[in-house]
Amino acid sequence: EPNAVPAAFSAHVGKHPGEPNVMDPTLLTDPFSGYGALREQGPVVRGRFLDDSPIWFITRFDDVRAVLRDPRFANDRSHASGSAEGEDPLTRTLRTFGIPEGTKQHLTESILNKDAPDHSRLRRLVSRAFTARRINALRPRVEQITDELLRRLPEHAEDGVVDLIEHFTYPLPITVICELVGIPEEDRVQWRSWGADLVSMEPERLGRSLPLMVEHIHELIGRRRAALTDDLLSDLIRAQDEDGDRLSDTEMATMVFTLVLAGHETTAHLLANGTAALLTHPDQLRLLREDPELAPRAVHELMRWCGPVQGTQLRYATEDVEIAGVRIAKGDAVQPILVSANFDPRHYDDPDRLDLTRHPAGQPENHVGFGHGMHYCLGATLARQEGEVAFNRLLAHYPDLSLAVAPEELVRLPRPGSWRLTALPLRLG
Ligand code: HEM
Repeated sequence: EPNAVPAAFSAHVGKHPGEPNVMDPTLLTDPFSGYGALREQGPVVRGRFLDDSPIWFITRFDDVRAVLRDPRFANDRSHASGSAEGEDPLTRTLRTFGIPEGTKQHLTESILNKDAPDHSRLRRLVSRAFTARRINALRPRVEQITDELLRRLPEHAEDGVVDLIEHFTYPLPITVICELVGIPEEDRVQWRSWGADLVSMEPERLGRSLPLMVEHIHELIGRRRAALTDDLLSDLIRAQDEDGDRLSDTEMATMVFTLVLAGHETTAHLLANGTAALLTHPDQLRLLREDPELAPRAVHELMRWCGPVQGTQLRYATEDVEIAGVRIAKGDAVQPILVSANFDPRHYDDPDRLDLTRHPAGQPENHVGFGHGMHYCLGATLARQEGEVAFNRLLAHYPDLSLAVAPEELVRLPRPGSWRLTALPLRLG
């Protein structure tokens, strides 16, 4: 059963009655209702992480945003505990997978695990590549890749049915991010399977792929150093050569795989979840089909309604903090829950309704699907652009597109943190 919940994770479910575990079936199979119920239970709810350690779920829109911009919370646990001693829940979980020490370090060196000033240093080095101007300049190329993939969809049809995830929603973002970063074309299939192994959270697959991926990146960096080009990888190497203090070897390798994996694993599922949502809401689909200019607003709403990321990384209190009347002690872990915040009736009218016109034109997004604050998604502009192009072109190419199975037959991967379909079988019409 490839999509079953890995035993290493479900082991702790039910050990602490009244304290929801991120692996509880109610949270895994329907995170919208599951975390929605927690949101109505309270703004700060005591729960358990994968390794059974206690965490606080932050469930409501205003509190989620407040925590994500609160400097009293750190992403690097050693900044909260006052020492690097003792492992954070994620590292402990990884150790139980048998990930080698040198490889594990590549995970902890991620921009997502850093606080100022290291975070600002790393973010500055890559943010130049992701300014709105650079991303807008990429649009024609994104359109070209999209059209090419869409034109070829019928070649992949079996009995008139195509899996959109396999043949469109993955290939599009992985091609875009690999071109941007400078990953050779022949390596992309390999990257996609590493990505899948990592998000599978199956100890065996993760333990096998992570070290291979890390070794591969170090080799790639070595080769590129000998022949620099105009890609992001070359920019990082130049920055490192100019001033070694700016980026360690491990940080550079970690940045490369963070960008490649964050750049396609999430976007692929926004495109898949969004397409499924449109096909099951024909009135909304018609609005977008009749007015392609609606796309930016539609993408905001699809990110809110079926964004692929359920919660952020853990944050750790660097001092005692009170949130909505609940005392969170120094060192405690909290997890801002994006899916419950995005459906908070205190913030949205009729939050359950998918309404592509909900977000006024030209306004900043009004959801937390890309996070908030210092760690706000670096690739949000790129992901939104890919979404706008993908949905519009898909509807234009295939006016009679429809689901090839009943909506309730669509299968989701039962993993905490993400909302992913395993396949999206469609009839092109
Ligand atoms: C951060 C979601 C696409 C790169 C984040 C965060 C979220 C998120 C929620 C914040 C996590 C936290 O605060 O703990 C998404 C979603 C995407 C998407 C839903 C697609 C629909 C991308 C793309 C890239 C990317 C295309 C590629 C460049 C990053 C990076 C960070 C990040 C590097 C860390 C930023 C930092 O720590 O300063 N993303 N992301 N993401 N995302 Fe995305």
